[in-house]
Amino acid sequence: MSATPAVEYDVRDIGLAADGKRRIEWAEREMPVLRLIRERFASEQPLAGIRLIACAHITTETANLARTLQAGGAEAVLIASNPLSTQDDVAASLVADWGIPVYAIKGETTETYNRHVRTALDFHPEVIIDDGSDVVATLIKERAEQVKEVIGTTEETTTGIVRLQAMANAGVLAFPSMAVNNAQTKHLFDNRYGTGQSTLDGIIRATNILLAGRTLVVVGYGWCGKGVALRGRGMGANVVIAEIDPIKAVEAVMDGFRVMPIREAAAVGDIFVTVTGNRHVIDTTHFEQMKDGAIVCNSGHFDLELNLIGLRELSSADPITLRPFVQEYQISANGHRIIVLGEGRLINLAAAEGHPASVMDMSFANQALSVEYLVKHKGELQPGVHLLPREVDAEIAGLKLRALGISIDTLTPEQIEYMNSWETGT
Ligand code: ADE
Repeated sequence: MSATPAVEYDVRDIGLAADGKRRIEWAEREMPVLRLIRERFASEQPLAGIRLIACAHITTETANLARTLQAGGAEAVLIASNPLSTQDDVAASLVADWGIPVYAIKGETTETYNRHVRTALDFHPEVIIDDGSDVVATLIKERAEQVKEVIGTTEETTTGIVRLQAMANAGVLAFPSMAVNNAQTKHLFDNRYGTGQSTLDGIIRATNILLAGRTLVVVGYGWCGKGVALRGRGMGANVVIAEIDPIKAVEAVMDGFRVMPIREAAAVGDIFVTVTGNRHVIDTTHFEQMKDGAIVCNSGHFDLELNLIGLRELSSADPITLRPFVQEYQISANGHRIIVLGEGRLINLAAAEGHPASVMDMSFANQALSVEYLVKHKGELQPGVHLLPREVDAEIAGLKLRALGISIDTLTPEQIEYMNSWETGT
């Protein structure tokens, strides 16, 4: 039985805590690197008394990150980084079982989402963990007087880092920000294998469709797109890639995929996934070309990759909900039905549970160590976007290998000497 919460919160139902706790502990079994960090944090207290807010998808994995930060001595408050990604039982358990204030409800309106951001800022954070940079942007726009209280921030996604860099270029980023996404132990695994698997999981849970034999159009061939394409092919789909970057497009060709502009892909696809981080990459002209029954979804951070306002304008009526997270629009001009999943929000978190814990283990190890790094180097880092030192990345990978029971080779003294010399050739 969970204790009566001693903190303020805004969650759907505190009575869901018992289910959430069981699931948080289940995920923890797959997060050995984060567990080791938590144990060290508990004894060293590197975050003692630090006021921290984490704007993240409120999942079982994020709960284990929050436990780690709390073990390190931080006073953490959590808010959702997306209106549709919260796991309500997890939010309840964090409040009831760990005494962590959480403001997040699955399906909350944009107004509630924004209110939660401001409630979290009322807490006067010294460290901000952000996922998409909404908190940092709101802080800069609305709370100029609080900026000096901030030691630094950490950023989880590609989209958020692009936004932070734009803030730095505009001269408005007054504190250091750790680009967690840019760590190799983050994007090479989370973006590729995490997004690859969880995106297909979301599509399948929402629709129960068979992928084998279908044409899957992946818009964007960054690390996330590579993962979706790889896993889509593994399930028997014919994968088509749409790209704007010639290097990534050549890579997709040599990885064995068909590459074509979205205006051509629109007519051949059965299922479309956007993972570009840009707006309206599937626009009205593309919807008009699609087959009857085409399924469209997004796995990029924000819900602007699909022009859904434009799609509504092409349709004679409001969309019909066919199943949870499945809405059908009908285009007046040709009668074609276009099926949109998860309201254009991240399908892997809207209709499934996001990336599995085993991959979030490394992402959130990077988050925990980035927060520690910021606190340890308080006042020493320049404003702007920073990378965690390479050794930390290598250490996380080493711990992951150890947890997997895999050992690797080390260089011999002779090899080290060879690598440091230039005299020896043919
Ligand atoms: N982003 C993608 N998957 C996630 C997860 N399981 N938890 C938190 N953030 C995520």
